[in-house]
Amino acid sequence: MSGMRPSGRLHIGHLVGALAQWVNYPDSVDAFFEIADLHAFTTKYDDPQAIRDDSDEVVLDWLAAGLDPQRATIFLQTAIPEIFELHTYLSMIVPVAWLQRVPTYKEQIEALGADIATYGFLGYPLLQLCDIAVFRADSVPVGRDQLSHLEFGREVVRRFNFLYGPTLVEPTATLSEFPAVPGTDGRKMSKSYGNTIDIADDAETTTKKVRAMITDPLKVRRNDPGRPEICPVFALHHLANAARVALIEERCRSGELGCVACKGELAETLNAWLAPVRARRASLDRERVAQILAAGNEKARVVARATLRDVRRAMKLVP
Ligand code: TRP
Repeated sequence: MSGMRPSGRLHIGHLVGALAQWVNYPDSVDAFFEIADLHAFTTKYDDPQAIRDDSDEVVLDWLAAGLDPQRATIFLQTAIPEIFELHTYLSMIVPVAWLQRVPTYKEQIEALGADIATYGFLGYPLLQLCDIAVFRADSVPVGRDQLSHLEFGREVVRRFNFLYGPTLVEPTATLSEFPAVPGTDGRKMSKSYGNTIDIADDAETTTKKVRAMITDPLKVRRNDPGRPEICPVFALHHLANAARVALIEERCRSGELGCVACKGELAETLNAWLAPVRARRASLDRERVAQILAAGNEKARVVARATLRDVRRAMKLVP
């Protein structure tokens, strides 16, 4: 089980990172992928329309990347009331101090200001645990930044099971080392830096972005020797042009290869690589997304309902 907050278009960093991991799992695995729209409300509660629109766009990006709705259950968090019910129950047994010491809490408030210091935001990792626990998921593919949330979640599960008997499953983070993908300005590719190449970009936009990329600042003239190790254009060649990386490196260093030609080749290979992804995205629309979510929500609820039945029983909430 894993999820993403709907906060804008996904980019090629996601494509070779999280999404590459998500589409690759054995048939024997029951997989659940969540649009965490309620989590988006923890920081963007003033813009519900953006959350709604982004929810659909992220599903389109997932499908474009190859997530198969026939195999995986793709669902919307707010369509599963069992998640909220579990969240309320667990809030009775989770010490506030546990939430306050999750490192992302302080970091995010420092980064985003006091406006996000809500009750709901404090509970962000608990809500995330509920996303996972209603499916009794054992494996959660996430990035390193989510490890503290998973560790917190495991503690909560242990506390519940200790108080009311073994009911919930302790989830484990499944980490994979993602290749670091630099953005067009050389910093980490991230929407907040405005340096992304998006899955949904068309070929022309991609070519324009690649042309505007920074390169080695000491390679001023076409024939100056370049330093591939500090050049984001060179780094991006690894994504879709791996076979030619060694040659490009050599020709850049010797001054044989100019940046204009190098960027031209990068744009071409990126566009060739992304063409089938973009074609898949273009073949789908919001109506298809609505159908996929409706089916996924239903499948997800069947599992969530069964878990909540056991939770209520464990807590003596049924006669
Ligand atoms: N917190 C995760 C992130 O920011 C998103 C998320 C929400 C999630 N619910 C989840 C991830 C459940 C894994 C499992 O990336």
